[in-house]
Amino acid sequence: MADSNNDPVDPHAGPADPDNRIGLERQAADSEHAAKIAGDIPERRRPDQPAAPRMRRPARRGLVQEVGSTGHEWDGITEYDNPMPRWWLWTFYATIIWAVGYVVAYPAIPLVNRATQGLLGTDYRQEVAAEIERFDQANAAIQTRLAEVDLAAIPNDPDLLNYATNAGGAVFRTWCAQCHGSGAGGARGYPNLLDNDWLWGGTSEDIYLTLQHGIRDPQDGDTRFSQMPSFGTDGILDRARIDQAVNHVLALSSQPHDAAKAAAGAQVFADACSACHGADGSGDRAQGAPDLTDAISLYGNDRATLTRIVSEGPYGVMPAWDTRLSKAELRAVAIYVHGLGGGE
Ligand code: HEC
Ligand code: HEC
Repeated sequence: MADSNNDPVDPHAGPADPDNRIGLERQAADSEHAAKIAGDIPERRRPDQPAAPRMRRPARRGLVQEVGSTGHEWDGITEYDNPMPRWWLWTFYATIIWAVGYVVAYPAIPLVNRATQGLLGTDYRQEVAAEIERFDQANAAIQTRLAEVDLAAIPNDPDLLNYATNAGGAVFRTWCAQCHGSGAGGARGYPNLLDNDWLWGGTSEDIYLTLQHGIRDPQDGDTRFSQMPSFGTDGILDRARIDQAVNHVLALSSQPHDAAKAAAGAQVFADACSACHGADGSGDRAQGAPDLTDAISLYGNDRATLTRIVSEGPYGVMPAWDTRLSKAELRAVAIYVHGLGGGE
């Protein structure tokens, strides 16, 4: 195969190639080895060297048997027809017997609705149900108390507070972390629940009401609702006015802005925005209208985001939870959120 002498020698090339010394030597060694295994030639050895042990296996009754070959050979390596070791075989039989016993004694083969029962009558479903029942019973008293007591009184009751914080933390990690983050730090459009900047109020009662009915949840008639107009897309303000209002908002939150536009924007703000965000821009919790004077923002504080928000109108939706969580769970998670640091 080597068509040029510059090519590296290919050890797999046929012996016909006189340049392929490695191939030739190897083939000679292979055939010598094969002949040795077949017993054609005796082991080559120097007189001062002990004989290499031959592949022999002592048979019962003292006979010595040659081990046959399976006839499989790869690259000069021949496979002997040795039986499996005894210990391995017995272990293998033992696992089969164990498996049969297991299938008879325990639930094992899955059927349509449940697995085969097994003679011992073990039922893991019932065991789990019984465990849940046991915990429910153990917690029943404190859950009833949690559902009935005045929310504001819970922080003064160490037992109840401890239970509510733990149970509420578990609820939060299951149902709330996807949107608000596992540490409740929030993300763009999803409020941070650790700070004391609240859209709809930060007392435990406020939080509880927000959780019960959600915010702008179309399925809940009592949901917290308000809607900022889409000033741009609905043609309420032209581009120049929106730009002025945005500059005014930038000025309110002490960011770089165009002073002349901001001054004109003060009038736009008084006319179009102050009904919800307040004359000074500090927001109105009754309408969930954010404080625009601080550095904390739900959607972003930069000029481009503000322009988009004012043009298109934000519409944050938080689902109502009273259809999914029990009263005790809702109150527990309200107490948990209230205790995160920003509660009022
Ligand atoms: C599908 C996403 C989503 C899930 C899940 C979710 N929230 Fe919200 N939540 C929001 C959004 C969006 C808002 C802000 C709505 C707005 O713009 O007014 C919000 C607002 C809130 C507020 C009001 C904050 C304020 O400043 O007044 C609280 C409290 C709250 N969520 C707690 C929770 C808790 C507790 C859970 C779990 C039971 C939860 N949320 C699950 C999306 C979600
Ligand atoms: C009808 C009441 C209402 C009016 C009028 C209104 N807003 Fe809003 N605004 C809201 C509400 C409610 C939100 C929060 C919406 C949400 O959470 O999805 C909001 C959010 C915002 C935000 C986002 C704040 C953040 O934290 O990211 C900005 C900026 C804003 N408004 C500016 C304005 C400006 C400027 C005007 C006047 C041109 C205006 N709003 C008029 C109710 C109003």
